[in-house]
Amino acid sequence: MDAAERHVPVLRAEVLDFLEPARGGLFVDCTLGMGGHTEAMLDAGPQLVAIGMDRDAESLELAVERLRRFGERFTATHSDYRQITAVLAAHASGRAPRAILADFGVSSHQLDEAERGFAFSKEAPLDMRMDRSTGESAADLVATLDETELARILYIYGEEPRSRRIARAICRERDRETIATTTRLAEIVARASGIPRHRQRIHPATKTFQALRIAVNSELDGLDGFLRDAVDALEPQGRLAVIAFHSLEDRIVKQTLKALSGHCSCPPGLPVCGCGAVKRVSLLTRRPVVPSEHEIEANPRARSAKLRVAQRIDI
Ligand SMILES: C[S@@+](CC[C@H](N)C(=O)[O-])C[C@H]1O[C@@H](n2cnc3c(N)ncnc32)[C@H](O)[C@@H]1O
Repeated sequence: MDAAERHVPVLRAEVLDFLEPARGGLFVDCTLGMGGHTEAMLDAGPQLVAIGMDRDAESLELAVERLRRFGERFTATHSDYRQITAVLAAHASGRAPRAILADFGVSSHQLDEAERGFAFSKEAPLDMRMDRSTGESAADLVATLDETELARILYIYGEEPRSRRIARAICRERDRETIATTTRLAEIVARASGIPRHRQRIHPATKTFQALRIAVNSELDGLDGFLRDAVDALEPQGRLAVIAFHSLEDRIVKQTLKALSGHCSCPPGLPVCGCGAVKRVSLLTRRPVVPSEHEIEANPRARSAKLRVAQRIDI
């Protein structure tokens, strides 16, 4: 299976409408994944050049293979998007990007490769690291966090209402035997959640797996700083498009872009603004753009996507 078959890019037409590849210039894809968005951008913009980054070395390899036909128009780098400033210093030859895309979360390729440990439906080591060359795995967190911290992660990152119960069960079970696989964790959570089968809308381990994935990959850390760096990097009138897949992520995107659009966050009634609000961008999406029913039907993994776009203004 090649990269194109492993992940369907979400909101592809909408991203192209906003990022206008036909205008050429430099495009930076901060979450290259299987390269679907970048391929569409390069196909639609013959004068466009692109830099793609991803922290997942295996994904990067597949995307590079897919995008090889673009030759020197495409450069790939194994990097975390939070290093965007350094990546541009190393690879952009002094050019400022006209368009930047961040399509957060995991790719279908990562979810479908059982041995990556993202999916509870397939037996695999409990890993979940996007960058397997570094950091603690989900099994490490499950083995070492104390019960209160585990419950806090499940509650905050997974919005799991049964977080305490589940954390208690995990700590009890790990004392008996190390929790090393996805299916064992899923079973423990399913039992602890106590939701009868006929009332289960989603698998009872869904929220726990989401929470651990966010914690393992520190997905929310530095998001605000990344968005600010991306705006700083853009050329005047350049555009930043961001696709978020869960509410915590989207809230940070929404608040950061709102602040960058000059929204004053001072308490009402202050005689002068004290928060230092400065308008750096105009918001091109007053409300997030979401996939059509048709797209969701064709690609159910698109269902929670929210796209927000900002345009840098001249200052
Ligand atoms: C939803 S996929 C992107 C799919 C891509 N737009 C496509 O069309 O194929 C998200 C990608 O972001 C990568 N990623 C997640 N966090 C990252 C980070 N902090 N830095 C760089 N890449 C990251 C993941 O490894 C994954 O490949």
